[in-house]
Amino acid sequence: MRGTNQPPPEGRHPFPHAHLLAIAGLQPWEIGFLLDEAETWVAPPDARPRRDPRLAGMAVVSAFFEASTRTALSFEMAAKRLGANVIAMQPGTSSLTKGETLLDTALTLGAMRPDVIVIRHGASGAPKLISEKVGCPVLNAGDGSHEHPTQALLDALTIRRRKGRIEGLTIAICGDILHSRVARSNFACLTAMGAHVRVVAPPTLMPADIDRLGVEPFPTMEAGLEGADVIMMLRLQRERMEGAYVPSAREYFRFYGLTPARVELAAPDALILHPGPMNRGVEIASSVADDIGRSAITQQVEMGVAVRMACLDVLTRRARGIEGWE
Ligand code: NCD
Repeated sequence: MRGTNQPPPEGRHPFPHAHLLAIAGLQPWEIGFLLDEAETWVAPPDARPRRDPRLAGMAVVSAFFEASTRTALSFEMAAKRLGANVIAMQPGTSSLTKGETLLDTALTLGAMRPDVIVIRHGASGAPKLISEKVGCPVLNAGDGSHEHPTQALLDALTIRRRKGRIEGLTIAICGDILHSRVARSNFACLTAMGAHVRVVAPPTLMPADIDRLGVEPFPTMEAGLEGADVIMMLRLQRERMEGAYVPSAREYFRFYGLTPARVELAAPDALILHPGPMNRGVEIASSVADDIGRSAITQQVEMGVAVRMACLDVLTRRARGIEGWE
């Protein structure tokens, strides 16, 4: 039986993993545990953000080999609110530009004995490789088109807070599914939590193995959005495209853009999500993105800090000698 609010079965540890590399493979109660932990870090709207120096003296290395605004900042904010020192590796100025292999970079990072490594990399599997070479927890902040686990957790937390549940909801994930690590992590997360996940994409941006991912594909926005409780829009990941996957931005918006008229096809109280960065007028109309009643896009960013505080806290419990986590 899948669903939210499931405690771990008798005798099972709530989160027995040393790293957070992917959502696929996590048990529903492990995801639920991380969401519940994240919930404790969300401050009421009028209060100051919560801080707690439980990671004081710990060094968090942040290694972003791909561009990032919100994820890198959000991890840094989360680590600092927990009292950790954050050391950002600057790939542009690092030895990578001198031809160092990922393996050598991993060994170098590991030799400095950080307490946590947060890594984003263009190659799927890079964080896993690093995790096998270092002696500290590794958090995947996005690897190629594979996974972006903390993004899926923050999306799930946003949905759970706005809708009161995830189980039983119909969630339409629309756009460049093929290149999206956000979509892959969300498939694993939302189906484990008991949601019904639909995907909408042009045929060129629909993964060939979509039928094996536990989601229901739709060729048009009109069909996929019908009655949906949540609409999650994705960016066209042009940096991962070689050649023409879509005719033009204008044409793409005409068929796959989220317009006010298409929002009307979804449930009357449908929630709108986008992981950012947004291409206004390409995958989403500005008026939809800025619709404060329905759009949860800025709330997603806020939940991102809470989710990352929870992940940093949980993954360092063993090193901090917390009872039950030895
Ligand atoms: C996403 C990413 O980098 O995977 N952005 C993010 O982390 N908020 C999605 C994207 O780049 O489109």
